[in-house]
Amino acid sequence: MVDYVIMEWGSAALRWLHVIAAMAWIGSSFFFMHLDAGLRPHPEIPAGKGGAAWQVHGGGFYEMKKHLVAPASLPAELTWHKWQSYMTWLSGFFLLGWIYYAQSSLYLIDPAVRVLSPAAAAGIGIGSLLAGWIVYDLLCKSPLGRNETLLAVLGFGFVVAMSAFYAQVFSGRGALIHTGALMATVMSGNVFRIIIPNQKKVIAALLAGEAPDPALGKQAKQRSIHNNYLTLPVVFLMISNHYPLAHTGAVLPLLVALITFAGAVIRHFFNGWHADHSKAPWWCWIAAALAFGAAMALSWQAAPGRQSWLAAERQIAAANPAMTEQAIQIVQGRCSMCHASQPVWDGISAPPKGVKLAEEADILREAKAIGLHAVLTHAMPPNNITEITAEERATLALWLTRR
Ligand code: HEC
Repeated sequence: MVDYVIMEWGSAALRWLHVIAAMAWIGSSFFFMHLDAGLRPHPEIPAGKGGAAWQVHGGGFYEMKKHLVAPASLPAELTWHKWQSYMTWLSGFFLLGWIYYAQSSLYLIDPAVRVLSPAAAAGIGIGSLLAGWIVYDLLCKSPLGRNETLLAVLGFGFVVAMSAFYAQVFSGRGALIHTGALMATVMSGNVFRIIIPNQKKVIAALLAGEAPDPALGKQAKQRSIHNNYLTLPVVFLMISNHYPLAHTGAVLPLLVALITFAGAVIRHFFNGWHADHSKAPWWCWIAAALAFGAAMALSWQAAPGRQSWLAAERQIAAANPAMTEQAIQIVQGRCSMCHASQPVWDGISAPPKGVKLAEEADILREAKAIGLHAVLTHAMPPNNITEITAEERATLALWLTRR
């Protein structure tokens, strides 16, 4: 029993930490991108070597100056921005392990996709994150990396290809969370392996009285821009587990492509907007809306229960009063072992997400949720662990359309 309490609160604590660290990281990243874009020439700073911006916050006025090269003598107090990133990655990694590797039969392994042992699933997950970073880093350092546009296209293709790979081995939600974790690993890797070490080298050169290698700053800037464009897509992927229509296996890589595009293009708008409101690229919103709409339509087209639901709608005329009875029996037979006040499923101590499906009144009240999670999509039962049949799902569809 104690292990249930530990699993539950452990997950809550890790997620709490992860969300807070990510807010701090993304918040500071947005702040500096905004500041950079808003800098204007300043008389004390030579042209092309930085700039200044004024901001007002919390009742005070801030005059912020940017020096592209470090000052001749370093200030006594120099704040580094790195722990937000490291903490986000570490807490995210442990949260991934806590939920997806420690409880993989519920969340990660879908035998209809691939039969894996928990150790193999975790090995593939962790190995792919490491391999993903290595491939990305080599790509950036290769001659191809000198062409920014080509690199962006290749990086985008790489992420989509990895999501296609994940969709071949993991459950839908497992595939999406790993695609997000891969992007996040690239982002934190950029901070840990490139941006911060390069800044340290620049400072060491200055302290030694030498001119720092300008390539170091250029490389750090390139990685920093990648991170900027990845922030919005990664956040969507991190919350995607709440949206079963987003984990539709057959079209999952296409959904990842559309959402990544939409997130990156919105970021692009804000980069332009902060630099100069009058030149903001408004087309970005249209492009993002089109991509998002396409993702919606695609997930609906590909939803595994779409055909049987449509068929049920066509049969609606032949009303059958026994329908509700049958639906309740199916839900009690396939869902209530977990979704009851006192679940009998090993490893589940309380109805997941507070959704109870044992009493008739509860089932009737949750009809919409049943439709979304067990009929239109096959998010529930998790990985079809209680073996609900296609006929039973079709019966639920009929019941839902007749209510
Ligand atoms: C083996 C246990 C188990 C069975 C059986 C099961 N579920 Fe679930 N259900 C879960 C878990 C675990 C979650 C929480 C998932 C998460 O954390 O995202 C959940 C979540 C849900 C949610 C809430 C989703 C959300 O994100 O708000 C609904 C609705 C749901 N289940 C419906 C069903 C239906 C309908 C069935 C039967 C067809 C079913 N479940 C069978 C374990 C189960």
